[in-house]
Amino acid sequence: MKNALAQADHAVEALRAQRQDLYYPHFHLAPAAGWINDPNGLVCINGVYHAFYQHHPYDQNWGPMHWGHATSRDLAHWQHQPIALAPGDDYDKDGCFSGCAVDDNGLLTLLYTGHVWLGKAGDDDQVREVQCLATSEDGIHFVKHGPVLLPPEGIQHFRDPKVWRAGDCWWMVVGAKENGLGQARLYHSSDLRNWQFDRVLSGAQTLNQGFMWECPDFFPLGEKQVLLFSPQGLAAQGYRNRNRFQSGYLLGHWQPGEDFGVTQPFCELDSGHDFYAPQSFTAADGRRMLFAWMDMWESPMPSKAHGWAGALTLPRELTLATDGNVLMNPARELTALRGQQHSFAAVTLSNQRQALDDEVQELALTLNLVNSNAERYGITIGKAARLYVDNQAHRLVLERFSEEPGLCGCRSVPLPEGDELSLRVFIDRSSLEVFVNQGVACLTSRIYPADGQRGVSLFAEGGQAQFAASQGWELESIWD
Ligand code: FRU
Repeated sequence: MKNALAQADHAVEALRAQRQDLYYPHFHLAPAAGWINDPNGLVCINGVYHAFYQHHPYDQNWGPMHWGHATSRDLAHWQHQPIALAPGDDYDKDGCFSGCAVDDNGLLTLLYTGHVWLGKAGDDDQVREVQCLATSEDGIHFVKHGPVLLPPEGIQHFRDPKVWRAGDCWWMVVGAKENGLGQARLYHSSDLRNWQFDRVLSGAQTLNQGFMWECPDFFPLGEKQVLLFSPQGLAAQGYRNRNRFQSGYLLGHWQPGEDFGVTQPFCELDSGHDFYAPQSFTAADGRRMLFAWMDMWESPMPSKAHGWAGALTLPRELTLATDGNVLMNPARELTALRGQQHSFAAVTLSNQRQALDDEVQELALTLNLVNSNAERYGITIGKAARLYVDNQAHRLVLERFSEEPGLCGCRSVPLPEGDELSLRVFIDRSSLEVFVNQGVACLTSRIYPADGQRGVSLFAEGGQAQFAASQGWELESIWD
């Protein structure tokens, strides 16, 4: 593997030399060059946060998956590390697919899917997927130990293990496809190497609940248990399930040795265009955190022409609201990135536009819903996007604009209860992340301002709108 890793690191360096940065993120994890998708192996061990990711170091398109790697001491500033896993052994010949990391008594241990095409490369109907283990003494260099869990008879897809410890036992949830339907399968082990099947935690009953459930994750949150997963093949319903694939959760109750008692049906976790394959982890102080891939399968990615593609979302904190819903907020650690602050006075606009600032990358803004009667009011971000209250539909809308039709259009969430709408907006070179009313809703979308302009203006159309005094910040780069 050493040779394959050295070659892969070399390939990234060569691509990096040609990278163009018009869309390259300033404060999001992204590959130095080449392609990335899912976050993998998120863990805090020996005082260091590790973020691995699905990576193709040779090209800006998806290909034989490696595990890229970055580390952080504070969850805000990061360093690139050498590529951690390269495919090439008989059990992972065609890819080291998604998986997780655990702290096994101080030993950083990865569990990932070894992927092999049995037919033609790319023929999803003929694959062999096994769960594999790798360990690292220094947190940087890994030794592969091969498969620890083989696919059961009759299972068509079997991937993306997520492992945690409960009591004196390890538990693993794995995404699967059986008889053409997606499911999450549960296993347990005393040593991470020998696994026993426990039960199917949950699965699609009909095709429009998903033909495959990718990247399952299963964890307690407050009084509830969350099954987070990325189902493929959900039918769109009104404003919901609009993306190529979805990511969301079931809520319920669970004890080791029992069935998962679901109390709330599938709910998308983020309502933007670009949020997939989220994976959770625990912060050093026990908070439940999460990263997702900030893209969507089959979406156009203009940065490919610049030698790279794919980024992760900001790290986020999950909590359970008193009404039982999952709240998602930016990690509090991110305030460490705040630089120059900009303050904006309260203003009422009537069929007007007012420029705030060209440099703001984080904006905390409150709109008064009661004293505003404009048909549409909110903010524009250069010519690339706008975020507004649609007073007729009674929704908060994120609309993006592009020369590329596949990158246009709206995503929206219902306006939350209450007189005020508070927004925390993060604007990077090619992304917009919006957190609504302390996390009751989120919208994450890639935007590609070809002119590089991302200046923020307030606007009100067809009436007046009241904006409270607001704050903005320029943010530091996350790279040390
Ligand atoms: C999700 C996914 C996973 C798989 C990986 C391959 O986006 O399809 O199921 O392990 O990506 O890169």
